[in-house]
Amino acid sequence: MVAADLDWGIGKTQALPWPKLKSDLQHFKRVTSAASEGKRAAVLMGRKTWESAEVAGRPLPRRLNVVITRRTDLTVPEGVRVAGSLETALELAAATADVESTFVVGGAEIYREAFAHPALRYVYLTRVELHCGCDAHIPNLDELGFVVDPWDGDQQLDENGVRFRIERLRRTP
Ligand SMILES: NC(=O)c1ccc[n+]([C@@H]2O[C@H](COP(=O)([O-])OP(=O)(O)OC[C@H]3O[C@@H](n4cnc5c(N)ncnc54)[C@H](OP(=O)(O)O)[C@@H]3O)[C@@H](O)[C@H]2O)c1
Repeated sequence: MVAADLDWGIGKTQALPWPKLKSDLQHFKRVTSAASEGKRAAVLMGRKTWESAEVAGRPLPRRLNVVITRRTDLTVPEGVRVAGSLETALELAAATADVESTFVVGGAEIYREAFAHPALRYVYLTRVELHCGCDAHIPNLDELGFVVDPWDGDQQLDENGVRFRIERLRRTP
């Protein structure tokens, strides 16, 4: 799950750089919270995203939150898990009985690894039609060989004077 501006920027000074986009937040919540009865999804994030303005050390409810860090002394609230690498975080999610899907939710460092990971199925991309002068970027996903994979969540929106579209991408074989 990622939102990027026209320069593939995703964040600035440890926060999202564009005005609040309610429909995008709803889309994020809807996709990462969808689960069968008694099940939930895991959301994997880097330590800086965990501490960023949007998350601020508060776990996303009804999802297994996994924070990826090289630190051994990170304290997190009860129920949140800590992993030493993306691979360990994926293993932890796979080994948790009630987890049925796993989403990587940032930031730039973790996405970079995730985009190259063989287990990646889709990228849910929100493309914000702005140039925000970000200090955190993802690679150009077109150049990485991702293509649009139409799904029923495709949306073209305009909110708070910001145009953006929500798409799902997949890797070309
Ligand atoms: N637009 C979006 O969709 C979106 C989504 C999420 C975040 N963001 C933005 O992205 C920015 C944060 O991204 P970021 O790249 O600076 O940070 P990040 O990826 O969230 O976190 C980086 C941290 O993760 C840990 N880490 C990274 N690779 C690791 C590895 N291989 N093994 C173990 N730990 C590893 C390290 O933590 P330690 O330093 O603790 O070891 C590292 O400092 C913020 O501006 C945020 O707002 C945007």
